[in-house]
Amino acid sequence: MSESGEATDGLTALAEVHAEDFSSRNARAAWCVGQLERGNVLLFSPSEFSLPAADREFLLAQQQSSAIYHKNIAYRPGPDRLTGLQTPRREDAERLRGILSDFSREATRFVRETLAPYGDGIRLDFASFRPIEERGRPNRTRARNDLLHTDAFPTRPTGGDRILRFFVNLNPSVPRVWITSETFGPLAERYGRAAGLDAVARAARSPLGHAGRRLCRSLGLTVRSPYDRFMMGFHNWLKENDEFQRTCVKSRWEFAPGAVWMVYTDMVSHAVRSGQFALEQTFLVSRGAMWQPALSPAGVLERLCGCPVTD
Ligand code: SIN
Ligand code: FE
Repeated sequence: MSESGEATDGLTALAEVHAEDFSSRNARAAWCVGQLERGNVLLFSPSEFSLPAADREFLLAQQQSSAIYHKNIAYRPGPDRLTGLQTPRREDAERLRGILSDFSREATRFVRETLAPYGDGIRLDFASFRPIEERGRPNRTRARNDLLHTDAFPTRPTGGDRILRFFVNLNPSVPRVWITSETFGPLAERYGRAAGLDAVARAARSPLGHAGRRLCRSLGLTVRSPYDRFMMGFHNWLKENDEFQRTCVKSRWEFAPGAVWMVYTDMVSHAVRSGQFALEQTFLVSRGAMWQPALSPAGVLERLCGCPVTD
C-alpha cells in the first residue's frame, strides 16, 4: 500500500485530500477523479463536510433497539420519501426525512464540486442512514456487508454506469472499520470464469439475446444486460465464497469519527467490519464520463469477453 495514494498491484489505497496540496480547484478535481478511477478511496478532512449539530444529535439518539431502526433507512431524493421505516412516529419520520433531504442536497453539492470534470455525468441515486452496529449484525449471506464484495443493485441495473458512494461517519467516538481486497480488475481476471463469465460472454455475443433485450427495453421493461448479470452474480459469488473471504489479501481501514470519504464501490472490494451511525449517498456516474474507461468494471469485462457487454 502506498502512502501517497498511488495504487499498487491492484490494491486499494487511501488517497487523502489536503486542500493545501493543490494550486487550483481544477487541479484538485482532476487528482480526485484519477484516484477514484484507479480504485482508491478518497478521504476528506471532516471540516470539508459536516452536518448541523442538531441534526447529528437527532440521528445519534436513534437507538438500534427501537423496532423502527432494525434496518438501514433509505431515502429517495426524487419523490422525497423514506423507506425501511416500520411503524414510525410521525414526527420522527418527518424530522428524519428533512435531515436526509438536506444531507442529500449537500452531499450532491459537495460531490459535484469535488468531481467537477464529470459534469452532468453524475446522477443522484438513493441515500441511506445506517444506525445499526455492523459488528455481528445478522443478515442473509447475500445481504451481509461484513463480507467482501463489489456492489451491484438487484433491482436497478446500471448498464455499465458506475456506482459511486459518499459516506460520513457520524459516530462521535468510534471509527467505522472497513476491509478492502484487490480491485475489480484483478479479481475478475482471477475469479471471473468461476463466477460465470463464460455464460455472460455467450449472452453478450448472442444476436437472439440481443434482440430479446432490445424488445424488452422498447416495452419499457427493466432489462439486465450481460454486464449487470455478471456484476450481480459476482457480488453474490464473492460473498458466498468462504475460501476467498478467508484467504484473500486484506487491508484494514479505520474511518475516524467525523470522517468523510467516497469510493467507486463497484470496483473497490469492500466490507464493513464494525461501526455504527453513518450517512451515505449513492451516485451513478455515466460510463461515458470515465477518464480511464479500461479500468472500469465494464471495460475490464469487455477486455475479458472480447465483445461489448452492456447492450
Ligand atoms: C457496503 O457498502 O457494503 C457497506 C459500507 C458501510 O456501510 O460502511
Ligand atoms: Fe457494498
